Amino acid sequence: MGEVILTMKDIDKSFPGVHALDHVNFEVKRGEVHALMGENGAGKSTLMKVLTGIYQKDSGSIVYKGQETEFHNTREAQDAGVVIVHQELNMVGDLTVAQNIFIGREPKKGFRIDDKKMIEDSKKLFQDLNIEINPKEKMKNLTVGKQQMCEIAKAISHKAEVIIFDEPSAALTEKEIADLFEIIRDLRKKNLGIVYISHRMDEIKTITDRVTVMRDGGYVGTLITKDSTKEDIINMMVGRVIYEDPKQESAVPADAPVVLKVEHLNAGKMVQDVALS
Ligand SMILES: Nc1ncnc2c1ncn2[C@@H]1O[C@H](COP(=O)(O)OP(=O)(O)OP(=O)(O)O)[C@@H](O)[C@H]1O
Ligand SMILES: [Mg+2]
Repeated sequence: MGEVILTMKDIDKSFPGVHALDHVNFEVKRGEVHALMGENGAGKSTLMKVLTGIYQKDSGSIVYKGQETEFHNTREAQDAGVVIVHQELNMVGDLTVAQNIFIGREPKKGFRIDDKKMIEDSKKLFQDLNIEINPKEKMKNLTVGKQQMCEIAKAISHKAEVIIFDEPSAALTEKEIADLFEIIRDLRKKNLGIVYISHRMDEIKTITDRVTVMRDGGYVGTLITKDSTKEDIINMMVGRVIYEDPKQESAVPADAPVVLKVEHLNAGKMVQDVALS
């Protein structure tokens, strides 16, 4: 890990009726993968949206590369090298891969879009990432995993210095996650600051250097990943000690009447021959 590239301090943000961020602190160093963890609704995405100019903070300070910074929109953040790969995919299905990557900033030849250059530049991006995607393919014909890779290529094409992955793995296969981790390791080697949001503890242990935990919009703490156990992290997330051992006895009397019983339930590939009562 290198020097600190980004410091968020005392960040506060409310939506009508929701105190989404309550004086949150967060820091990223160059050459670091920093996990942001917390239960659903803890404020992880909101914090990163405040960073990248999608939302404006109510108070607090953001220092990026030594300077007090406030981005007013994602364009400003991108131009400064702070990019986010969103939880939701943001690609246009009917456009090609290359068109999606360069949307809004297409290379021009005179007054016309320089398709050839756009395709060449896309090819080069994919080469750097070691992934095989045809830039001429329509986005909607790619798997979700490949679309995610395009989002990443697009992010990197902005000369990113800080890159935020908001639950990138949710829709990826195991092979695609392995590819993604290769890319992240490579970005770390290139000294980028990387934020990795995920609920999957195994991934956090595999790919991250530090972990910051949030709970109910608040900052709980920051740990060094290799010095922490999964239980340490979970305890910080939920705010109470979790007992891993299953309970031996049910609180419900054995002769209580059954109110719902399911047998041999099938629904698609994921649900097969399920029984519960
Ligand atoms: N645009 C918005 N308007 C109103 N409330 C919002 C908005 N965005 C987020 N919130 C609220 O702020 C809180 C934090 O949400 P956020 O999406 O940051 O959580 P998260 O940690 O990313 O959760 P998840 O793991 O489910 O993605 C939640 O209570 C959410 O409902
Ligand atoms: Mg989120």
